[in-house]
Amino acid sequence: MSATGQEKDLTPPEISARKGKAPLVCLTAYTTPIARLVDPHCDVVLVGDSVGMVLHGLPTTLGVTLDMMIMHGQAMRRGLERALMVVDMPFGSYEESPEQAFRNAARVMAETGCAAVKLEGGEVMAETIRFLTGRGVPVMAHVGLTPQAVNAFGGYRVQGRGRDAERIRRDALAVAEAGALAVVLEKVPETLARGITEEIAIPTIGIGASSACDGQILVVDDMLGLFGDFRPKFVKRYAELGQAAEAAIATYAREVKERRFPAAEHVFGEGPKTVNGEEAA
Ligand code: KIV
Repeated sequence: MSATGQEKDLTPPEISARKGKAPLVCLTAYTTPIARLVDPHCDVVLVGDSVGMVLHGLPTTLGVTLDMMIMHGQAMRRGLERALMVVDMPFGSYEESPEQAFRNAARVMAETGCAAVKLEGGEVMAETIRFLTGRGVPVMAHVGLTPQAVNAFGGYRVQGRGRDAERIRRDALAVAEAGALAVVLEKVPETLARGITEEIAIPTIGIGASSACDGQILVVDDMLGLFGDFRPKFVKRYAELGQAAEAAIATYAREVKERRFPAAEHVFGEGPKTVNGEEAA
């Protein structure tokens, strides 16, 4: 049982039913230890394709493969007890046709144990979302700034300003009507996020989209200060773990060079052997 007393994972219908209620808390995670840390506090945990940039050093998410998502999904599954687990469909694994999307989403679900997948795109993906949801694949949608389209956008720009708002609004309506369980709104102005949240029947999950949304998501490494100097306006740094880790590593290196580590308390004497073959302390 989890720290919150819940005995099983939250389900896609339970997340959809949170529309207009207590804000949905969502984070990414890519490994078992981080999944264990975020699970008691989150409603949704996403294996985002941001894993490619955050853990693999790729310049964009475009080089992320289905095998990478499945491997990180399996690691994440071992750390979750409570939250809804969602896995991102990587670039090139779903856009071609609803059939291609189903084939790959089914593989992701079967091999990771996730309960839903996320894919990027609005009106253009509505047919695919309908196809998947009608065949037992719950889908979280993602509109606004969709990072897999970074080249088409010409950068990671705010989407939906001025007259462009109508395009994003239509995207959000289309994915909601197609049966998405919720929709991520990324990097859009507050007025647009509020309007969409009021208009559609499924939860909006904001990232750089203001508190007007039904929930929030951040990349866990960004909010923990683990992803270098990446400091976009919409990320609040809740800790500086990267700096703390660097200081610890520098101290270790100094102590090794000065022969101050290992100290007496880290060294074995001539004690009896244990069952593991190690000397007792
Ligand atoms: O890949 C990702 O981490 C995401 C979230 C930030 C929404 O898509």
